[in-house]
Amino acid sequence: MSDVPRLSKRYSFRFVRLFSVCITEAFKADTNPKKINLGVGAYRDDAGKPYVLPSVRTAEERILQKALDKEYAGITGVPAFTKAAAVLAYGPQSPILDDIAITQSISGTGALRIAGAFLQRHYPYSKTVYLPNPSWANHKAVFNDCGLDVKTYRYYNKETIGLDIDGLLADIKDAPKNSIFLLHACAHNPTGIDPTPEQWRVISTAIKNGGHFPLFDMAYQGFASGDTNKDAYALRHFVEQGHQVALCQSFAKNMGLYGERVGAFSILAESAEERKRVDSQVKILVRPMYSNPPVHGARIASEILNDAALNQQWLSEVKGMADRIITMRALLKGNLEELGSKHNWDHITSQIGMFAYTGLKPEQVSTLAKEHSVYGTMDGRISVAGITTGNVKYLAEAIHKVTQ
Ligand SMILES: Cc1ncc(COP(=O)(O)O)c(C=O)c1O
Repeated sequence: MSDVPRLSKRYSFRFVRLFSVCITEAFKADTNPKKINLGVGAYRDDAGKPYVLPSVRTAEERILQKALDKEYAGITGVPAFTKAAAVLAYGPQSPILDDIAITQSISGTGALRIAGAFLQRHYPYSKTVYLPNPSWANHKAVFNDCGLDVKTYRYYNKETIGLDIDGLLADIKDAPKNSIFLLHACAHNPTGIDPTPEQWRVISTAIKNGGHFPLFDMAYQGFASGDTNKDAYALRHFVEQGHQVALCQSFAKNMGLYGERVGAFSILAESAEERKRVDSQVKILVRPMYSNPPVHGARIASEILNDAALNQQWLSEVKGMADRIITMRALLKGNLEELGSKHNWDHITSQIGMFAYTGLKPEQVSTLAKEHSVYGTMDGRISVAGITTGNVKYLAEAIHKVTQ
């Protein structure tokens, strides 16, 4: 037996730990009928149910009627989808559309993985990615697994529960020249705190002065404000300012295509000529990773993005989701104030997107779960998508009790 290769014990142990901290499991095991799961990173309707967008249903019906074959896509995916994804992100009037090298990806995570692999291999100046502190929990793992080092720049100010713009700018300034900076284009996860347009302009100048490379993660276009153009402000401003940007897009949230895994990675080349070279290098990277991406979700997104009427319908559905989130923020804050909470809850409504960074401490988060069956993450983040008109009062009472 001794010469049989085995997984290390440490490996198995970490696996178990991961499961033991899973909020969803704890939530499922809870028998309280009033329990609320605020840990999920997926939109829920006002009945707390997963939501399939009507525009997605229509697109699926049309695809079914076309009786398309199931042949492989090319390495970079469904061309009608990637072309439309670039237009959605950079804008239909953008003069650089012909210089964008773009590939379909396995949703936003896959786009980040290609970005990391591409920069690790081809960006000659630095192998370090700077992430905001805090950032989406998976960023570090993705970039480390690509062989990149990860450092952080200041982002969140605990005292103000707002953006630490001075710390952020100082860290951009102090980073070694030509570093890679990951920027959440909108709806920063986990804080829900985005720079204002004025702040983005200052950030753009600071990134330029440092000769840094801006890598945008845009997982929530449209989902933040309800307007896909407004949410693309930072990306488009950087492009206008002459940065060479790279971009990771996800259609998980804004089209509700979570499990379909639809995304795109793009990079702005200096010319159409360079774009061809970048394209071929992206193909060299993707081919040994997964050969080519799945077609179904990309066909759905393509149908929605390329049909004028369906596109309009989708835009209003995105706005509907964003508006529901904004309404739930206002209701939660209003209920807390009505209960006589002495705390300032302005950040609940000034933050944007799916998540709210409540400022709750880990002990308060655990009491919320143990005594009130309300489940959020230990950093005080709650998914506003899990709030409904039916549970907001109970939630406010629970938060009020643990913060008194
Ligand atoms: C900031 C951010 N980036 C990327 C992703 C990737 O999501 P997906 O791979 O489902 O598109 C998420 C998902 O929660 C996210 O919050």
